[in-house]
Amino acid sequence: MVAFLDLKKLEDSLLNRSGNVPLHTRFRALFTLKSLRTEDAVQIIIKGFKDSSALLKHELAYCLGQMKIPSALPALEEILRDESQDPMVRHEAAEAMGAISASSSIPILKAYLKDPDRSVRETCEIAIAKIEWDNSEEGREHLKAPKDSIALLYTSIDPAPPTSKLLSGVPKQDDLTESNIKDLQIKLLNTELPLFERYRAMFALRNIGTPAAVDALASGFSDDSALFKHEIAFVFGQLLSPHSIPSLRKVLEDAGESEMVRHEAAEALGGIATPDVLPCLREWMSKEDAPRVVRESCQIAIDMWEYENSNEFQYANGFVNVPPLAVIGA
Ligand SMILES: [Fe+2]
Ligand SMILES: [Fe+2]
Repeated sequence: MVAFLDLKKLEDSLLNRSGNVPLHTRFRALFTLKSLRTEDAVQIIIKGFKDSSALLKHELAYCLGQMKIPSALPALEEILRDESQDPMVRHEAAEAMGAISASSSIPILKAYLKDPDRSVRETCEIAIAKIEWDNSEEGREHLKAPKDSIALLYTSIDPAPPTSKLLSGVPKQDDLTESNIKDLQIKLLNTELPLFERYRAMFALRNIGTPAAVDALASGFSDDSALFKHEIAFVFGQLLSPHSIPSLRKVLEDAGESEMVRHEAAEALGGIATPDVLPCLREWMSKEDAPRVVRESCQIAIDMWEYENSNEFQYANGFVNVPPLAVIGA
């Protein structure tokens, strides 16, 4: 149980009531609230949607989805409907609806399949497929099945499950073969397939996690869907493989790349936290002509880097022990 005063302190920190709470401290408060998974925490997080930072708000939506508490749905629906919100925030709200997986969300997700923003449209498509899959025979069986070690390593609710063969978690010897990785890569890159199927290949490659799987994933950065590319960078943030650093740096440093993709690349680099990534994160955090989302993501990434390189056992204001952002961020 978290005492009322602690909750109040977390709320003040998340909402920056004093006016001088650094963004990374607000993120830490958010992840502490997420780990509580209570109704009170949901209501505090919802209050944050009044903020002006798209980065913060997309993370609020992500956390509400991961908490999987249906009372967050009306607020998420409101964000999806609000076309004045940044598309990155609306995308995350739709994805969170997929994570909560209530059949009642399907009509509203369907209504936004024709949204002017491609990332929003594509997210709605994937979220609908995810909710339908969760209610399929395979999905229901999967929910009941005991989870093994790799499934526990990735505790996030993903936008799509891995391909059927890798559903149970730990890859078997024949999953690691060059030909299997190649097959998954072909699926990953096949733009004729529904995005949900391509995402299933993506999460299968994540669970395989070898350098060859990382290379296969990195080949997805040549896609023309910002949503698809940002999810690859997100997966790299979960995998934490130094092998992915060159491709992530290329994405972060590409001024022509979508902000959403660059943001996710920055946070993945912060989670990988090797000494060589720090100068690059510092440079982009203070680049005046870089988009706000990119600068703020680098600020969060540096906080993650420092956490990974410190002896801090208790992340997030010392309230509750939660994993680093690299493992749980959106
Ligand atoms: Fe996202
Ligand atoms: Fe994100």
